[in-house]
Amino acid sequence: MSDVTFYSSEHSLRDIPVFGLPEICIAGRSNVGKSSLINCLANRRNLAKTSQTPGKTRSLNYYFVDKNFFLVDLPGYGYAKVRKSEKAHLSKLTNSYLNSRTELKGLIQLLDSRHGPVSGDTIMLDWIREWGGNVLYVFTKADKLSANDRAKLNRTYGKEFGLDNITMFSANIGMGENNIWSWINRTLKVED
Ligand code: GTP
Ligand code: MG
Repeated sequence: MSDVTFYSSEHSLRDIPVFGLPEICIAGRSNVGKSSLINCLANRRNLAKTSQTPGKTRSLNYYFVDKNFFLVDLPGYGYAKVRKSEKAHLSKLTNSYLNSRTELKGLIQLLDSRHGPVSGDTIMLDWIREWGGNVLYVFTKADKLSANDRAKLNRTYGKEFGLDNITMFSANIGMGENNIWSWINRTLKVED
């Protein structure tokens, strides 16, 4: 089992040390389940703070995995109730991280399995296409779907993103966790 520990909360790109280790970031709308995914991978209930209220994570949160690479929990986007100035700060922080962090080797994009990509995801999905790096699309809260609907989603988005690049996921029941680990391992190996 992997050892995942909290490392640091970063509020400014300039202040993030150069660790010289690969980083994989986790992106998605507020409340889509990013922090819950980290807790699931860490096998810990409260390592990353989760909340029913969107907008919980407001910094780049670094988690150290097996003293080998970092998972970076990004602030969620698309939450209307965050103050304007705070929103501008968070999107600047996220944008500059995505556009300039050379340690970034892969991106895990979360989408709510009940809705698929929604309008708030457009900017991020466009950015990903331009970027052209390694991406895993994770469809969260899949415990809320029937097996039939999950199979349908797999077919639809398997065609769009490639079957190796998508997974159904549920933090509540651990569904899809192995797929995420194998994608991470593949991504880090390719980069070696
Ligand atoms: P921000 O930090 O605000 O961007 O949100 P987040 O993306 O980190 O979401 P978070 O992990 O805090 O989860 C949001 C809500 O969704 C919480 O109430 C979780 O309990 C719930 N949730 C997360 N994952 C799952 C899941 O797999 N199944 C179900 N049913 N609920 C989930
Ligand atoms: Mg969060």
